[in-house]
Amino acid sequence: MSFDVAAPAEELVRRVRAEDVSAVDPSSSFVSAMRDRFPDVDVRDGSAERLPFEGGRFDATLAQLVVHFMGDPVAGLAEMRRVTRPGGVVAACAWDYAGNRGPLGVFWDAAREIRPDVRDESRLAGTREGHLVGLFEDAGLAPICRGIVVHPLIRLEAAMTIKSRTLRLPADQAEALEAIAGVDEVSVNEEIQRAITAHIEARRSDPAFRQRLKASMERNREILERLAR
Ligand SMILES: C[S@@+](CC[C@H](N)C(=O)[O-])C[C@H]1O[C@@H](n2cnc3c(N)ncnc32)[C@H](O)[C@@H]1O
Repeated sequence: MSFDVAAPAEELVRRVRAEDVSAVDPSSSFVSAMRDRFPDVDVRDGSAERLPFEGGRFDATLAQLVVHFMGDPVAGLAEMRRVTRPGGVVAACAWDYAGNRGPLGVFWDAAREIRPDVRDESRLAGTREGHLVGLFEDAGLAPICRGIVVHPLIRLEAAMTIKSRTLRLPADQAEALEAIAGVDEVSVNEEIQRAITAHIEARRSDPAFRQRLKASMERNREILERLAR
């Protein structure tokens, strides 16, 4: 039995039987979209800070990209802890806004150029290195693992099946790239694609990288299998 705070992502329903998934979201449009799409999921109106479930009900309780929206993140995580059985998993992820790796990074770069003191998203709960772990601890949870998703923008866009990428380059690199593309008589996009393809191939044939890749796959497989149980 799994539970997602805020309408669960499709991937969770795909991995666990819909009948075994419950969700809570305070937004009525999310709730009704979720009910239309996954009629077998138990979707309720509510918020993380006051979960409408008895204690110890779920094996895994997830908050994907939600903690930074919570009015009281520690109360929300403590509630997630309450509804999870002893030995179960409570997991959350958030964008790395402080590291400027969220989906609106380019927007905030531009906003800061115009107003350096603009109030961006980097102060939201759990969106700076180590803060999510601190909130878990404040909620009485002992973190067993932490990690960073390889590239949030790519993950998000892949989920939306949009085949575009946002790449931020320092001005001098961008100028050099444009100049090289001009000499090669190809577009900058083509030049980037070639470079990325060469980079991927080089990484794949690097024995040290392959070893680290395998270790990382093992780690992630273990976590996913535990969550799907
Ligand atoms: C970025 S969406 C993430 C949805 C889903 N978990 C996913 O990954 O696709 C954030 C969601 O958090 C919900 N939300 C905001 N405040 C919340 C709270 N206090 N408790 C639970 N969900 C909340 C919003 O309504 C919205 O549906």
